[in-house]
Amino acid sequence: METGRKAVCALLVAVCACAALPATTTANKFSINWQPNTNYSDWPAKHGPFYKGDWLVFYYTAGQADVIQVDAAGYNKCDATNAISNYSKGRNYAFELNETKTYYFICSYGYCFGGMRLAIKTEKLPPPSPPAAAKDKSAAAPFAASPASLLFAAVAVHATLLRMF
Ligand SMILES: *[C@@H]1O[C@H](CO)[C@@H](O)[C@H](O)[C@H]1NC(C)=O
Ligand SMILES: *[C@@H]1O[C@H](CO)[C@@H](O)[C@H](O)[C@H]1NC(C)=O
Repeated sequence: METGRKAVCALLVAVCACAALPATTTANKFSINWQPNTNYSDWPAKHGPFYKGDWLVFYYTAGQADVIQVDAAGYNKCDATNAISNYSKGRNYAFELNETKTYYFICSYGYCFGGMRLAIKTEKLPPPSPPAAAKDKSAAAPFAASPASLLFAAVAVHATLLRMF
């Protein structure tokens, strides 16, 4: 009896340890090659969905492109006059999608009219069971389950197995 109860406890602990892991995988990093003469209108549908807390990382060549966050009107007219944020230095720009809304980005160098603009709608909640969603959606997945958290889970499972036997 006692052994049986312990086995059930061990199982519960193991399940909890595993269930806790996806929490660390909910933020995704989406890398985008931000290039002139590119039409990005299909990019969000191909790479999304996007959730609050995800990151967009624009890779671009300074002097050839910039990343200007605008409102819907600025996006529609390719007009950067009322920029919300403006980034043009370095080689990449990481932007956290920290609200549930639609974000608009354009390049102010004229390429916006050729499609170099991006409308990203973020959704509120990550999917309840993320195993499939946890897969890498871009070049890198810096916020995937860290080796440390996997190690903790492994240690937890190991410890409960030790207690069982
Ligand atoms: C972005 O900021 C730079 C430096 O402050 C400025 O020269 C440039 O005009 C700005 N671009 C836009 C589109 O607002
Ligand atoms: C970009 O692609 C979309 C969808 O394929 C198309 O509707 C749109 O006209 C294109 N934009 C430009 C500026 O070519």
